[in-house]
Amino acid sequence: MVIRAVPPKLWLLAITGYAPVVLAFFYVNDFKTRELIILSAIVSYLGLVLTKALIPVLQPIHLRRNLFGYDINKKGTSGGEKKVPESLGLAPGVVFLVCIILFQLLQYYDVPSVWHWVQTWGREGALKQEPIEDAWLVDYNAALATICFMLFLGFADDVLDIPWRVKLLLPALASLPLVAAYGGGTGISVPLPLRSLGLPAYLELGLLYKVYMVMLVIFCTNAINILAGVNGLEAGQTFVIACAVAFHNIWELAGPGGAPGGAHRDGHLFSLYLMLPLAGTTLGLLLFNWYPSQVFVGDTYTYFAGMTIAVAGILGHLSETLLLFLIPQVLNFAYSLPQLFKIVPCPRHRLPRFDPATGLLHATPNWNLVNLTLHMFGPCTEEQLCWRLLKFQMFCCGFGLGLRWVLTGIYK
Ligand code: UD1
Ligand code: MG
Repeated sequence: MVIRAVPPKLWLLAITGYAPVVLAFFYVNDFKTRELIILSAIVSYLGLVLTKALIPVLQPIHLRRNLFGYDINKKGTSGGEKKVPESLGLAPGVVFLVCIILFQLLQYYDVPSVWHWVQTWGREGALKQEPIEDAWLVDYNAALATICFMLFLGFADDVLDIPWRVKLLLPALASLPLVAAYGGGTGISVPLPLRSLGLPAYLELGLLYKVYMVMLVIFCTNAINILAGVNGLEAGQTFVIACAVAFHNIWELAGPGGAPGGAHRDGHLFSLYLMLPLAGTTLGLLLFNWYPSQVFVGDTYTYFAGMTIAVAGILGHLSETLLLFLIPQVLNFAYSLPQLFKIVPCPRHRLPRFDPATGLLHATPNWNLVNLTLHMFGPCTEEQLCWRLLKFQMFCCGFGLGLRWVLTGIYK
């Protein structure tokens, strides 16, 4: 398999996503925090390289096992008759899990203390290797179990074609390890204007908070899965969201709340440990999934990516900010509801109509953001359509970050 040159738009996407993250890093003052961010970045880069290496290996294997799909938006051209390997989200998913386990291994021991251990090993009075901290491991392993369970169920869905109504609930099942192990706060802070109506500053939700967690998980996974069907869109939106969350995490770590020892710092670091490898492995996948796609990501990927983002939102205690980044997904979900509930007829694929004569995509009467974009801005090529939707995603993330800073003032 020959790897094609990286498309210019993909370069642009990678730079736009990573540049703010790198910039924010230079504002982090604490040495230990910097060390941890760099460690996670190195592991994530490894994730990108491994994903890029694994996909060409898996492509023929998936085809042999009849895991393929036809590119619907190229119907009527030779591209539409090719069997495109499906469910290649398996590669970034597995590599992601390896990355975060590897990171756990490296992070568990302080790097300087490992060096000291190597120097004194076997000698009398040698230093015993002491783990630096372990409270966060419970959450980390619960997150790992949940993401792993979701990846498995996503793959099962791709292979078994699980019916829609059941499929919608798979994430709830996968979230069980996280919900069971969750021991963090179960309340939300109430914005100032609402407090003047008599609400307390901190509203304890108790068990309801766990219901909220499950709902967030169901939303994130399905929302990414139904904003799909255009080459590069599933992985592209995930990459943008992962970079936006990572930027938000690092920015918070650079601020006064990022001082060592605080729960605020732990939450943001935790979320960052998930987002950097997610962005890295997703970029590896995009090298093959960008227009014209050589592989499809499958529900294996959409479910895995949605779950990872949801877990970061929950354990990083940033679910409100996350929902601002997910405005395109919220809009698409809300707009899709009549079709999802079958009030309006819902075909198996709610994709645009491709005109082989012009190579342009045209809107269909299906109720989703993909068709709405075509309605509003007119017919365009598949790559243009994906890019327009990703630009909207970037805009919403930027808007979310801005609004978040404004809102911080009314949470104090
Ligand atoms: C969701 C959407 C469906 C959309 C599909 C596309 C809802 C309720 N469901 O269904 O409308 O058509 O995702 O992913 O909104 N495909 C392409 N080009 C791509 C990506 C996918 O043609 O860039 C086609 C391929 O034939 C591929 C198939 O979509 O095999 C994958 O669909 P799948 O993920 O199984 O669909 P759903 O998630 O059930
Ligand atoms: Mg899908």
